[in-house]
Amino acid sequence: MNMKILVVGGGGREHAIAWRLSQDSCKPTLFCAPGNAGTVGVAQTVPISAEDVPALVAWAKVNRPDLTVIGPEVPLCLGITDAFNAEGLRVFGPCQAGARMEGSKLFSKDVMTAAGVPTARSFGFTNETEAIDALDQFDLPVVIKADGLAAGKGVVIAQTRTEAVEAINSMLVEAIFGKAGAEVLIEDFLEGEEASILALVDGEHTVILPSSQDHKRIFDNDQGPNTGGMGAYSPAPVVTEDLIPYIKEQIILPVVRELKKRGIVYKGVLYAGLMIGKKGINVLEFNARFGDPETEAVLPRIAGDLIPALQACIDGNLHDGLIQVRPEAAATIVMAAGGYPGTYKKGDEIKGLEAAAKVKGATVFHAGTSLKDGKVVTAGGRVLAVTALGTDLKSAVACAYDAAKLITFTGAQYRNDIAQRAFNR
Ligand code: AMP
Ligand code: GLY
Repeated sequence: MNMKILVVGGGGREHAIAWRLSQDSCKPTLFCAPGNAGTVGVAQTVPISAEDVPALVAWAKVNRPDLTVIGPEVPLCLGITDAFNAEGLRVFGPCQAGARMEGSKLFSKDVMTAAGVPTARSFGFTNETEAIDALDQFDLPVVIKADGLAAGKGVVIAQTRTEAVEAINSMLVEAIFGKAGAEVLIEDFLEGEEASILALVDGEHTVILPSSQDHKRIFDNDQGPNTGGMGAYSPAPVVTEDLIPYIKEQIILPVVRELKKRGIVYKGVLYAGLMIGKKGINVLEFNARFGDPETEAVLPRIAGDLIPALQACIDGNLHDGLIQVRPEAAATIVMAAGGYPGTYKKGDEIKGLEAAAKVKGATVFHAGTSLKDGKVVTAGGRVLAVTALGTDLKSAVACAYDAAKLITFTGAQYRNDIAQRAFNR
């Protein structure tokens, strides 16, 4: 019988994961909860929210997937892995204690400090007056962060002391992030170029997946507010080949060992957000999952089978031979709804998907889409992640734009400078 795999989540990352798993030689039967209008092409839809852990456990107890792959951070931080394991179900993704690497920036900093991982100097505060007093010890700009999960909005780069005080006040006093902001970190601002490293981890060993770079701001030339990510490309030339052993030996493995010392066997993806600059490499943050949209650019570059590597993470026998990388480069253009990252409309029909899918080398991953009366409509801020492979980054980017230009929906917006940093080097 075919292997059954459940993918938890409903964004572009989960479509890319399900799409990639569907190409494995064992031809698994795939399920996606809750999925989107794109995942229906490769997986059966399970209409359960990714954050409803009890309902997902109940579904899995009946349907017995051989493997479950968790996309987003919220279910991981809620302990979905522990809950599935308690029922004898295999899960790719860290346990709740491990997911604190993303769920608590203070915990993550503490682990980094103990492990000797390079990161910005920072201090944690629960008291507003103490936090404001501590600003004297920092140059401007200064970084203010909420400790907990804040859907990517918990970081403020304050250019002035007034902005820093406002940020501290909004988190500690006004509690705009609720409990997630009950403790804040004040951190040195780091300069440089950002890159994302997704590392597979089996509790002891790691395999570093191809590097990538996200585009966090909404507008070209990194202008405007932060988003969940407006595009990605892989490889990121800022991560030169000689940096990979350093990232493995000085960043990923020390964290894995430090967690093990604390009784936490970390299995899944450990995502390191890096700042590479004059002061060398520093870790900005860790995430406990595949990045979005990085995954849409990285997974198409994996050759051969992916499932054995995910299984090895669970079984503790991960090694480099399990991952083969295609020589092509990949680019992903996120098409977002008008108004995003502010308020935006849902339910607009998306046209041109079939034409875009015919562009050779391109794949359209769905992010915020749903089916309405047989039509694909917008259902989120980030709507599509249009991805292409190319013999080099230039051709990948050109191909992804060729496909994106064929797609229309009311208010559609996307950046026109994906991978420009790589070309400007
Ligand atoms: P984080 O959620 O910690 O990754 O922060 C979100 C974004 O804020 C990062 O991708 C960076 O662009 C920026 N950021 C976070 N910490 C720092 C820092 N110490 N210095 C400069 N930029 C930062
Ligand atoms: N692309 C950033 C993230 O996944 O957190």
